[in-house]
Amino acid sequence: MNYPKIVKIIEIKNEAKNTKTIKFKYSEKVKPGQFFMIWIPDVDEIPMSVSYIDKRIKAITFRNIGDATNALYNLKKDDKIGIRGPYGNGFKLIGNNILFIGGGTGIATIAPSIELLSKNNAIITVILGAKTKNELFFEQRIKKTSAKLYVCTDDGSKGYHGLATDLTEELIAKKNYDSIITCGPELMMKKLFEKRKKMNFQASLERFMKCGFGICGQCCVGDGLRVCVEGPVFDENILKYVKDFGIFKRDSSGKKIKI
Ligand code: FES
Repeated sequence: MNYPKIVKIIEIKNEAKNTKTIKFKYSEKVKPGQFFMIWIPDVDEIPMSVSYIDKRIKAITFRNIGDATNALYNLKKDDKIGIRGPYGNGFKLIGNNILFIGGGTGIATIAPSIELLSKNNAIITVILGAKTKNELFFEQRIKKTSAKLYVCTDDGSKGYHGLATDLTEELIAKKNYDSIITCGPELMMKKLFEKRKKMNFQASLERFMKCGFGICGQCCVGDGLRVCVEGPVFDENILKYVKDFGIFKRDSSGKKIKI
């Protein structure tokens, strides 16, 4: 669906400092890890991962970090937004013993995969990381699944004191996982990629997007891989050839910006 469907916001929840979930009725089938293009009337259209997947209800969870997210953040119940999608490939949920690492708002992207695998009796470990405890969210949601949860904060205000990458290193030194699935700051994901040993690895990348479905070329990484079509989830076999992974991204004019 390449035209926005206008939906009414049916619920808004404060999740953490400057972070909200917005729910709306939307019946299109969505795979965990896919994203929507969200149109905020009179402001902008931006990509956003789907954070809740129910047959008729979907949601997005986001931090207020710029003009578009600020406008979205200030919307109220019954206000209208436009939804296009879902777009992108989503995660391949393979293996029985999976380590998920969500850094910052990255947990919003991976939470639906954790819930789905939990229903399928997979062995799941989750690292939920943030800079500080006020920025943590979805802790209770993950606790309702069968996952073993580790919380970590950079400043030690809750859980393990240190970076999610350090905690991952400690866990994978003791235990072998079939697969690592991650979403969060790209430098964190790049470090995890380097530490992954021989485990399968999937990371969800974020790039500036315009069309969202493969025609404008705005979101390309590596040798012409479109994050909106071939991604946003890439595995280790692709990431090892993506030279810009963890190095640079492009702004709306196509100019390179250091990550
Ligand atoms: S946003 Fe247009 S090709 Fe990806």
